Amino acid sequence: MNQPVSGRKPVRTLAWEDGALHLIDQRRLPREFETVTCRTAEEVAAAIRSMVVRGAPAIGAAAAYGIVLGAREAAEGADDFRAEMARIAGRLRSARPTAVNLSWAVDRMMRVIDACPHMSPAALADRLLEEAHAIAAEDAATCRKIGAHGAALVEPGGVMTHCNTGALATVDYGTALGVIRAAWSRGTPLRVYACETRPFLQGARLTAWELLQEDIPVTLITDNMAAHVMHRGLVRSVIVGADRITANGDVVNKIGTYGLAILAREHGIPFYVAAPVSTLDLSLEHGGQVPIEERAASEVTHIAGQPIAPEGVDVLNPAFDVTPARYVTAIITEHGVVRPPYEEGLARLVNRLDEQGADIA
Ligand code: MRU
Repeated sequence: MNQPVSGRKPVRTLAWEDGALHLIDQRRLPREFETVTCRTAEEVAAAIRSMVVRGAPAIGAAAAYGIVLGAREAAEGADDFRAEMARIAGRLRSARPTAVNLSWAVDRMMRVIDACPHMSPAALADRLLEEAHAIAAEDAATCRKIGAHGAALVEPGGVMTHCNTGALATVDYGTALGVIRAAWSRGTPLRVYACETRPFLQGARLTAWELLQEDIPVTLITDNMAAHVMHRGLVRSVIVGADRITANGDVVNKIGTYGLAILAREHGIPFYVAAPVSTLDLSLEHGGQVPIEERAASEVTHIAGQPIAPEGVDVLNPAFDVTPARYVTAIITEHGVVRPPYEEGLARLVNRLDEQGADIA
C-alpha cells in the first residue's frame, strides 16, 4: 500500500493478517501512508530498530508477533525449538534498549513456552498467536482505562505534550494522547501544544497528524519555544508518556522530557506521566540505571535526508532522558493515579496485580 496522505486514515498501528505482521510505516508519515509487512522475526526486529514502529507499547506488541513468526519458522526447521526461541527472543529484546515494554512482552510470550513443556512446536506457535492477540487487545483496552483515569486531571485550556504517545505509539488510542483524547471527548475545551521533538520529529510528524485526524485543536511548536509558551500562560498542564518508570518514580522518556518537567515546575504547571503498568520496571531503583539508547548521528545532522550541519561534526544523540520523580505531579496508569511518594505507591500498585497485570485486589 503506498498512498499519499489525504483525508482520514484509520490508525491501526499493527495488524495480523494472512500470517504476517503489517505495520504502518511511521518513518513516512505524514507525507505517505504506507505499511510494511514482516514475515519473519528478524524483519520485526529490523522494523523496531529502524522505527517503522516506535512507542513503548507498540514495540512490545510488535515484538510479541515477532515471537509468533519466529515460532512458526522454528517449528518448520529448527533442531532445537526452545533454544532457537531463546535466540529469537534475545534478538527482539535487544532491538531497542530503553523501553521496558519490549522485554516485558517478549518475556510474557516466552513464559507461554515455558508453561507448556510437552506441547509440539506447531501447537505452541498457535498458542503464541493467541497470546500476541491478547497482548494487543489488552493494550488497546489499557489505553482507554488510562484515558478514563486521567481525563479529569486535564484542565480546560492549553495542554503541552512531547513526542508521540497516541494510537501510533500503542496498539490503539494512546497513553498521554489517550488522556487528552478522553478529556476532549468529555467536552473539556483544550488546545494541545505539541512539541516537535527533535531529532526524529515524532511530535511534528505523528502527534500533529493524529490530532488533526481527530479534529482536536493542536498548535505545533519547536522544542525551544516551550518556556516562552508556558511563560505566556498558554499551558495549564503538561502530559507525557514514558518508556520506563523505575521504583522511585523516575521517568525515562523521549529526550527533552526532563527539560519540560523543569519548566513546568518553574511555571507552577502540573506535570503528568501516563503509562501502562507494563512500563514500570521496579527491578531498578532509579532512572540512572536505565540504558539510554544512542541513535545515529545522521538523525541530528540531517532532516529528511538533507544535511543541516557541517560534515564531520561531533554529535550526541541520546534518544531518551531521565526526569527525576520530584518533578512528576502524578503517574496515570490503567489501575488509577499514583501520587508521591512513588516508591510506596508504585510498589502497592504492582503488588495488587497478577502475572498478566490483572488487578487481584
Ligand atoms: O523513540 P520513540 O519514538 O519510540 O519514543 C517514544 C516515546 O518516548 C514515548 O513518549 C513513549 O514510548 C511512550 S508512548 C505511549
